[in-house]
Amino acid sequence: VLCWFYIFPVYRLPRDKDIVQEVLRQGEVWQKNQTGIDHYRKLLTECCEPRKMFAVTKENSPMGKVLWYDGEFYHSRTVNNETYPLFVQENPLQLPLKKCSVVGNGGILRNSKCGRDIDQADFVLRCNLPPLSKDYVEDVGTKTHMVTANPSIVEKRFQNLLWSRKAFVDSMKVYGSSYIYMPAFSMKPGTDPSLRAYYALADTSSNLTMLFANPEFLRSVGKFWKGRGVHAKRLSTGLFLVSLALGLCEEVTAYGFWPFSVGLDEQPVSHHYYDNILPYKWFHAMPEEFVQLWQLHKSGTLRMRVGCCP
Ligand code: CDP
Repeated sequence: VLCWFYIFPVYRLPRDKDIVQEVLRQGEVWQKNQTGIDHYRKLLTECCEPRKMFAVTKENSPMGKVLWYDGEFYHSRTVNNETYPLFVQENPLQLPLKKCSVVGNGGILRNSKCGRDIDQADFVLRCNLPPLSKDYVEDVGTKTHMVTANPSIVEKRFQNLLWSRKAFVDSMKVYGSSYIYMPAFSMKPGTDPSLRAYYALADTSSNLTMLFANPEFLRSVGKFWKGRGVHAKRLSTGLFLVSLALGLCEEVTAYGFWPFSVGLDEQPVSHHYYDNILPYKWFHAMPEEFVQLWQLHKSGTLRMRVGCCP
């Protein structure tokens, strides 16, 4: 029994209801803490160098460089004639970014009226090509500066781009001229769809710019949070983006992070603001991630919006 405890240390995670109570106790009270912000940026810079490393660039990944996949055991791809030309020269963002909104896809955004608040930021980051249609504008806004796209979305929603690319290119138009951030070198099956997405956009002179997530960065951010008690096979996209924003932005507000089935009014909340499809259970540890983010909220390092916006 003792051995078992060593292999699987038992840690207690508060129940959904306890978290709701804790969040209600704290309320929407929030006080920015510049020292906390600076401290966190320093920690993230030391571990993960977000400014230089968040994307694969010609600068950090020259010809011949071996990219080790962060989501695979011992799999790599060497930068060659085929991939090198697809990388941006260097970090293309004007840094530091001032106010950033990081938008998770939680159902808590539904009827939140946070759209205007989200759009007021200088830089808006969104996860997994979320819907931004008219029905949602009031709650989630319209602006996007960076949006992540998991290769599995390309596979499922756009038939892996093996047939028509028009539906993909057209549906990207809602993201304006933002950056599309794809983990092309995380899992083996994700590379080809990501490269195809690159070409689909480039061949149609799309306004979007493809940035491939740097697997070295993703791995180091994963380690950073593991050291802080997030025990997941893989971090959620949202936590990667919040970590990136904490490294790049002067002020971060997070919306749509609420991986619980009840809301602050104790009413049921759907998993996403647009559907209620639940994630594969053991892959992410979103409630653990939430507890970490809530700590950062309480310490004034970032602001979490979990209720309605005024
Ligand atoms: O692909 P993944 O499951 O990571 O993400 P998603 O369902 O598209 O949602 C984007 C992000 O929002 C997640 O990665 C989480 O960080 C966050 N989220 C949350 O905190 N609570 C929810 N109920 C749903 C998503």
